[in-house]
Amino acid sequence: MQNTAHYPSLSGQGIFITGGATGIGAAMVRAFCAQGARVAFADLNTTAATELVQELENLPQFFHVDVTDTDALQQAIRQAHDRTAISVLVNNAANDMRHSPNDMSPQAWRECMAINLDAAFFAAQASAPLMAAQGGGSIINFSSINALLGPQQMPGYVSAKAGLIGMTKALARDYGPDLVRVNAILPGWVVTERQLQTWLTPEEEALWMQQVALPKRLMPDDVARLAVFLGAQDSALITGQSFTIDGGRT
Ligand SMILES: NC(=O)c1ccc[n+]([C@@H]2O[C@H](COP(=O)([O-])OP(=O)(O)OC[C@H]3O[C@@H](n4cnc5c(N)ncnc54)[C@H](O)[C@@H]3O)[C@@H](O)[C@H]2O)c1
Repeated sequence: MQNTAHYPSLSGQGIFITGGATGIGAAMVRAFCAQGARVAFADLNTTAATELVQELENLPQFFHVDVTDTDALQQAIRQAHDRTAISVLVNNAANDMRHSPNDMSPQAWRECMAINLDAAFFAAQASAPLMAAQGGGSIINFSSINALLGPQQMPGYVSAKAGLIGMTKALARDYGPDLVRVNAILPGWVVTERQLQTWLTPEEEALWMQQVALPKRLMPDDVARLAVFLGAQDSALITGQSFTIDGGRT
């Protein structure tokens, strides 16, 4: 994160990130810590989370929480708030597993919505009043360019990510009077370890590079810098917006 912006308004602020142990979430934990913020994050991956906490000097707080467990998620948010008042919530946890529309059971569909859509709503529901009580805050929802492109074999994920764009608009209006801002980030294909291990083959990457305007790998740190900006006071009058970061793919 050298030669990048420093935001004094984030110093000492409480940040809550879902899915912060790996990938883009871990990059955001590092990026907000580098701004001097007090970061808490929820994840299921205890091994990766423990390594991340040990790596960082200002010791982020880790909650082993399944974000589809609404009570546990909302309790973790309140507990983090008791340590340091939360001014930024990042709804990042997701599951992009592929599935055919023909094979999807009602239960599998509900589980897909629970992780990719519902958790963001209930995290916002718990956080917004806490932010309002201290004069405002910023909620950042992770959508995807797949909400715009609608690729095959992921109708549940695409529906949920499109839902997050609408939810962002709706909550920006509902929470705006309390100066709680709500924005969405739509990343393109971000080169995380998991993407490299599961979907991003050399052939797929070569195709991606032909489709983008900027033929450079999109890295988790690139996305984290946008999230940090949306969390900081530098974006104080921005709400209800969706920001695409995809090297010009869409
Ligand atoms: N990586 C990409 O190319 C890409 C592209 C577009 C959008 N996005 C979005 O950006 C966000 C981050 O992406 P990523 O690739 O880093 O995701 P990821 O799948 O690699 O990581 C998500 C994190 O969430 C955690 N998690 C998963 N289910 C959980 C649960 N039920 N409870 C708690 N934690 C849980 C995982 O352990 C992991 O640490 C997601 O919302 C994703 O949809 C990513």
